[in-house]
Amino acid sequence: MFKETPLDSADTYNYTVVRQFTLMTLIWGIVGMGMGVFIAAQLVWPQLNFDLSWTSFGRLRPIHTNLVIFAFGGSALFATSFYVVQRTSNVRLVSDSLARLVFWGWQAAILAMLVTYPLGYTTSKEYAEMEWPIALLVTVVWLAYAYLFFATIARRRVKHIYVGNWFYGAFIVVTAMVHIVNHVLIPVTALKSYPLYSGATDAMIQWWYGHSVVGFILSVGFLGMMYYFVPKQAERPIYSYRLSIVHFWAIISLYIWAGPHHLHYTALPDWAQSLGMVMSIILLAPSWGGMINGMMTLSGAWHKLRTDPILRFLVVSLAFYGMSTFEGPMMAIKTVNALSHYTDWTIGHVHAGALGWVAMISIGTLYHMIPRLWGREHMHSVASINTHFWLATIGTVLYIASMWVNGITQGLMWRAVNQDGTLTYSFVEALEASHFGYLVRLGGGGIFASGMLLMAWNTWKTVRTSERAPSSLVARRRSELSPCGR
Ligand code: HEM
Ligand code: HEM
Repeated sequence: MFKETPLDSADTYNYTVVRQFTLMTLIWGIVGMGMGVFIAAQLVWPQLNFDLSWTSFGRLRPIHTNLVIFAFGGSALFATSFYVVQRTSNVRLVSDSLARLVFWGWQAAILAMLVTYPLGYTTSKEYAEMEWPIALLVTVVWLAYAYLFFATIARRRVKHIYVGNWFYGAFIVVTAMVHIVNHVLIPVTALKSYPLYSGATDAMIQWWYGHSVVGFILSVGFLGMMYYFVPKQAERPIYSYRLSIVHFWAIISLYIWAGPHHLHYTALPDWAQSLGMVMSIILLAPSWGGMINGMMTLSGAWHKLRTDPILRFLVVSLAFYGMSTFEGPMMAIKTVNALSHYTDWTIGHVHAGALGWVAMISIGTLYHMIPRLWGREHMHSVASINTHFWLATIGTVLYIASMWVNGITQGLMWRAVNQDGTLTYSFVEALEASHFGYLVRLGGGGIFASGMLLMAWNTWKTVRTSERAPSSLVARRRSELSPCGR
């Protein structure tokens, strides 16, 4: 499956690693979302915890989050950044062996998480649960990735560095920085460590990291993807190159300050909480600048949405990005956060971004890349891409709408007090009121995940077919350069 093709000869690009990461995006997507569906079912039927520690919700939840963020999202970013950097620099990755190390090293780290989390080995810090040997492996792989990416840019045959690469570059640098700083640990045994920081400092570093995972992996990385694949699929140059530069500098300078909005009303100094709130509100501007730049790229090409389901995936993902980056700044306002924090509203916000933006843009991009990577003219079934689009859209809407209703219900029930100052509702009453929402979320998640199975079938049929694209198309695809028309 990873054999050299006419698109992957020694003098052109290294597509082997791109193909490997593309397939793993699909596989990890199915496993990670499958795990999401399972833990969603546990919240409806607690019996599914089976009274076993290693199948309990608390242990499986981080498996879901790590699989979807690092295994699914990470593989999508590795695949696309390697694809984009080679094509826009017009040069092959500088080292094939380092590319192999990045691929296998990353898979090994994910497998290590899959084994250690159910067994209870965890730092207990969200999105940074990996114990120190795994964190060390991730650091090595990430530094190799950074070297591969930037050395390839340094050797480019094109003077210009395409804006998509700026976004990928920032995602790589900041992820390295926050991962290393948040994992300054003191190991006490082979699988147990304690953080060097303590108290409020530890919390601040953790959420500086946590928000950067949101900001630089789930936003800036995928914006790099957007800047290449939206213009490509729309066959239009990016709407405004100037806006993309302003967008880049504004978003990278603001995101890093927004972390304290995860720690409102905690022991964190008040000024830090207010700073996080203000920076989050300002973040709306560059976020929407990016969304508008992507959307407006379709000017004069809107009619393509009628016939092109891949473009539909990309455009609807931008709409969800706009929605979640409007909602986020609102939730960062302290008085709003007093209602939303700890409730399912946060979960709804997360998945508006995660399913609507991250997953949908990755799916659209994969459908764009797969025929090109395997030298096929198009995906096996365009009709099933369309069906997948509707499954993903309906699944996302059911998921987030049910969580909004649940979240606001919970927030209002928890804060309701009687005239004598006692609570109007017990916690269990609020839980009971959430039951129907959990059922709807399970349905929405199941629908979304079934779309991934359809995609796996379509990919299998596309890759296995013996029918190859005509050589004229292969030659054209080889020479396609960046979407700014160069
Ligand atoms: C079929 C799709 C999915 C389903 C059914 C699903 C379900 C769930 C459930 C049940 C939770 C736990 C909620 C809670 O603790 O109350 C959760 C948490 C989470 N999921 Fe998903 N998920 C899906 C896809 C994704 C994807 C694609 C991503 C990321 C790209 C993602 C990222 C997260 C994150 C970050 C959390 C933790 C949220 C927080 O702590 O506030 N999920 N998911
Ligand atoms: C301008 C952009 C954004 C801002 C200002 C923002 C703000 C917020 C706020 C205030 C919270 C709730 C914190 C709490 O009460 O604990 C939150 C949670 C979260 N947001 Fe966003 N958000 C933005 C965009 C996004 C996007 C695009 C994603 C992509 C998936 C995302 C993923 C998450 C996740 C995963 C959490 C849950 C963190 C946790 O508690 O585990 N956010 N965000």
